[in-house]
Amino acid sequence: MNNKVDILLGLQWGDEGKGKIVDVLTSKYDIIARFQGGPNAGHTLEFEGIKHVLHTIPSGIFHKDKENIIGNGVVIDPVIFKNEIKKIEKVNLEISDLLISKKAHLILPTHKLLDAASEKAKGKEKIGSTLKGIGPTYMDKTGRNGIRVGDIKSKNFKEKYNKLKEKHIQILKFYDLEYDIQKAEEEWFKSLDILLKFKHIDSEHYIHESIRKGKKILAEGAQGTLLDIDFGSYPFVTSSNTITAGACTGLGVAPNKIGEVIGIFKAYCTRVGSGPFPTELKDSTGEHLANVGNEFGSTTGRARRCGWIDIPALKYAININGVTKLNMMKADVMSGIKNIKICTHYTLNGNKIDYLPFEDNDKLIPVYKEMKGWEKDITNMKNLEKAPKELNEYISYLEKELNTPITILSVGPDRTQTLIL
Ligand code: GDP
Ligand code: IMO
Ligand code: MG
Repeated sequence: MNNKVDILLGLQWGDEGKGKIVDVLTSKYDIIARFQGGPNAGHTLEFEGIKHVLHTIPSGIFHKDKENIIGNGVVIDPVIFKNEIKKIEKVNLEISDLLISKKAHLILPTHKLLDAASEKAKGKEKIGSTLKGIGPTYMDKTGRNGIRVGDIKSKNFKEKYNKLKEKHIQILKFYDLEYDIQKAEEEWFKSLDILLKFKHIDSEHYIHESIRKGKKILAEGAQGTLLDIDFGSYPFVTSSNTITAGACTGLGVAPNKIGEVIGIFKAYCTRVGSGPFPTELKDSTGEHLANVGNEFGSTTGRARRCGWIDIPALKYAININGVTKLNMMKADVMSGIKNIKICTHYTLNGNKIDYLPFEDNDKLIPVYKEMKGWEKDITNMKNLEKAPKELNEYISYLEKELNTPITILSVGPDRTQTLIL
């Protein structure tokens, strides 16, 4: 029995286009499973003129006869989850099944308050969190105080809730934050009804059994490798492992059951929130990328910072994840840029460096190779034979440098604007 779980995950600072490609690939799989993160994620899908942003629900949901699993590594805000379900119901499409791990942790209204308080206290050094309560919820998980989906049906659920809430209120006293929790709490309890409508499962058993039966499974990452709690630009990161290893712990899949690792990246780079970004552009090219690429956060609407592609950072992400295939997104956004720059390495205090060091990430000076850009609008392009020569050269250069094949090229947000190479 050699059936394995494939993974698709982000190689940059998130928003690479994971939602779009998971939707495109779903027809090849039986099960799509999210393994970490929570509603800090915003995964966009576009088809038949509809645009959808998913936060907690896996991006395979719009295909019928498939199964979507929210794994144990995910944190769920019942209020956001309920809104997602309502929006999906509105489009009236036939959707696939949704199953939720009993071991997934719940985001409480007070987790969001703690997130806000922590960011406020950090002042100028704030992380730029999405303020969805992600950090405090994972803190309670590792601190062994968390409440899980499987607890909702237990007799002492309210007691557990009150105990944790009380603890949070004590902590909030240390912060200078005004709040009124009553309304948020009422909404939270009302929203639990929707969570209870779905099947709660022991997802690790379910996935093992599915692997055994030969079902094809795709694990969908959230955020990106450079936001990983261990390997990202700490402390400007999220609070989970966004990497391949996160799929093992976030779904209960053993490392030897991982198959293809699909690493997804933009033809340039973006970051939302604070933290180092060596190739950031604060000029008209940065504006071009932001405007043409519509670079505004899917979850918070904040403007995304834009910059050139960063080879050392991509190599780092490929190594950590064991990437076997690459998908390059938003190539269309690069049309019209005369000279494209590619960061090949950095200098730090005058010395050449080709990796992301522990310290002084914000002092790295990128060193660029230049390549000629292309003018042509490629948003209707169906195969690479029709591609501008310069785009083919860009792809070949990246494949060679990254030593990994690019198997999908995306030239627009719609499902159909996808070239399988
Ligand atoms: P995710 O978090 O990785 O799923 O990515 P987001 O959905 O947050 O951000 C990607 C954005 O780019 C969304 O608005 C997508 O609709 C859009 N998008 C995805 N692929 C392409 C592409 O190839 N070209 C363009 N122009 N937009 C794209
Ligand atoms: P998807 O899945 C981009 C960023 C936030 C902030 C940092 C910590 O759509 O790619 P958190 O809310 O986790 O405390 O925020 O991480 N961040 C993301 N940036 N895409 C995301 O998700 C992100 N999720 C969190 O902006 O800098
Ligand atoms: Mg996103």
